Amino acid sequence: MRKLVIMYLCFFGVSLHAGDIESLTLEARSQSKMLGQSLMAVLKTSLQNDGPEAAITVCNLNAPDIAGSLSQGDWRVGRTSLKIRNSDNAPDAWEKQTLNEFNDRIQAGENPMMVEASTVIDGEFRYMKAIPTAEMCVTCHGSNVAASVASKIHELYPADQAVGFNVGDLRGAFTLRKTLQE
Ligand code: HEC
Repeated sequence: MRKLVIMYLCFFGVSLHAGDIESLTLEARSQSKMLGQSLMAVLKTSLQNDGPEAAITVCNLNAPDIAGSLSQGDWRVGRTSLKIRNSDNAPDAWEKQTLNEFNDRIQAGENPMMVEASTVIDGEFRYMKAIPTAEMCVTCHGSNVAASVASKIHELYPADQAVGFNVGDLRGAFTLRKTLQE
């Protein structure tokens, strides 16, 4: 893997060492952890206090803002998936390929909590970390979403694809990017 990354870097003429990739990966990992924790805290509180219909509004209004507030400096932080709810989260070519690889790695027995990938494309450092489906997620992303929840989702996201997930499935990924200085 590391050999591949180094070849890639030489190809684009960006002077980065394997150590730089490692430290960028560490930084990206800690930022995706912060995003995950912030989203989870907001989600848990609103599910407990207000129920799933209200929590959908909270996700709708807050998730993009939370990701935006963590996008500091040159970093851009977001979420993506092969089956999206918000079309702003649609994957690009590398993200789609990486999500497919994540599915294969999880099928092959890798711990979904640890699945991640880093690379450099067109002078940008890219990082993704798998988001597995947990028990609480199936309320809004599962196969048996309650009618009242489903209708609220459809009101806000008429083209929603993000249902039918089982606990343990790859729901999506955190996706981070940072422009590299030449
Ligand atoms: C209360 C309903 C609700 C619950 C519970 C919920 N989500 Fe979501 N999820 C949403 C909504 C609404 C969006 C769209 C947010 C936006 O507009 O950016 C979303 C978007 C996402 C996205 C971004 C990709 C996309 O489809 O647009 C991921 C990844 C995701 N959810 C994962 C999870 C995970 C993992 C859990 C469990 C820990 C979870 N969700 C629980 C409602 C929910």
